[in-house]
Amino acid sequence: MLLFPGTSHPKLAAAVAKKCGLDLGKCEIKKFSGGEIYVRLLDEVRGECCWILQTSGANVSDDYLEIFLLADALRRHDAREINLIIPHFGYARQDRRAMMGEPISAQLMANLLVAAGVARVVTFDLHSDQIEGFFSVPVDNLHCFPMFAEYFLSKKLPDLVVVAPDTGAAKIVQRLSDQLCAPLAILHKTRPRHHEVSYTHVVGEIQGKTAILFDDMIDTGSTIGPAVEVLIKNGAREVYVAATHGIFSGPAYERLAACAAKEIVVTDTLPVEEGRLANLKVLSIVSLLEKIL
Ligand code: R5P
Repeated sequence: MLLFPGTSHPKLAAAVAKKCGLDLGKCEIKKFSGGEIYVRLLDEVRGECCWILQTSGANVSDDYLEIFLLADALRRHDAREINLIIPHFGYARQDRRAMMGEPISAQLMANLLVAAGVARVVTFDLHSDQIEGFFSVPVDNLHCFPMFAEYFLSKKLPDLVVVAPDTGAAKIVQRLSDQLCAPLAILHKTRPRHHEVSYTHVVGEIQGKTAILFDDMIDTGSTIGPAVEVLIKNGAREVYVAATHGIFSGPAYERLAACAAKEIVVTDTLPVEEGRLANLKVLSIVSLLEKIL
C-alpha cells in the first residue's frame, strides 16, 4: 500500500505511514503563479492499492483540489484502488439548505470526490451523520468521543456534566456523557450572523459542576468563547473544552486565550499550533487509523 499525502498535514501523514507500516508515495505538488495547482506522481502506481491523506484545513478549497488532482492522476496511472483519508471533511456545515438560495456543499464535495475516482473514504466525526449517505462509495466515519472519554476519565474530575453548545451537537455529546456516566446539559444557541453567537438558556444542572463542553469543531471560537462564559456565569466550577477538529481560523487563538476554559482538548485531524495556547492539549487519531488500515 502506498500513502500519498497532500500538503495540508505532512506531520500526520508521516505519523500514519510510520505507525501503519505504509510507504509514503512520492509526488510533486506545487502552485503556478496564477494559482493553479500542479500535481505529478513520481512513483509507479499501476496495480497498487493507494491511499491519499489530505485533511481540509486553513486552505480548504485548495486542499480539496489537491485531492481531486491526486485521485485523477492515480486513476489515469491505473492504481488498483484509490482510497482517501480526509480527517476533517470540510464544507460539511452546509449539509442542507438552511436558507433559500444556498447550495448543499457537503453533497457536492462528496460527488466531486467520487467523480475524481475515490472509491473509499475514511473520515472523523462528520458534522452530521447523514453526510455519509451523500457518498455512493463506502465511508468510515470514525468517532473520537471514546478517546476523549478515556482522556477525561484518566483525570478523575469530580461532579462532571457534559455540555452540548447547541442542539445540533446534542446527539454526539450524549454519547460522550454516556461513556463518562455523567449527566448532559444543552445550551440554547442562536446565530444572528455567520461567526456570531448568542446564548439564551441553559438546559440542565451546571451549578458547582465540572463542565466538559464538547463540539465537533472549533473554527473561529465564536461558539466556544461565549459558551464557556455562560457556563461559568451559571455556576460551573471549571470548564474543559473538547472538540474533534481544531480549525482555529481568524481570531480563534485570541478568543480561546481570553476564555476561562481550564483546558482545550482537540485532536490532530488538523495541524494546530500547539505553542500558541498554554492550556491546549492535542490527542492523536493515529491509533484509530491504525485499527482500520
Ligand atoms: C456548528 O454547527 C458547529 O458545530 C460549530 O459549533 C461551529 O461551526 C464552530 O464555529 P465557530 O468556532 O466559528 O463558532
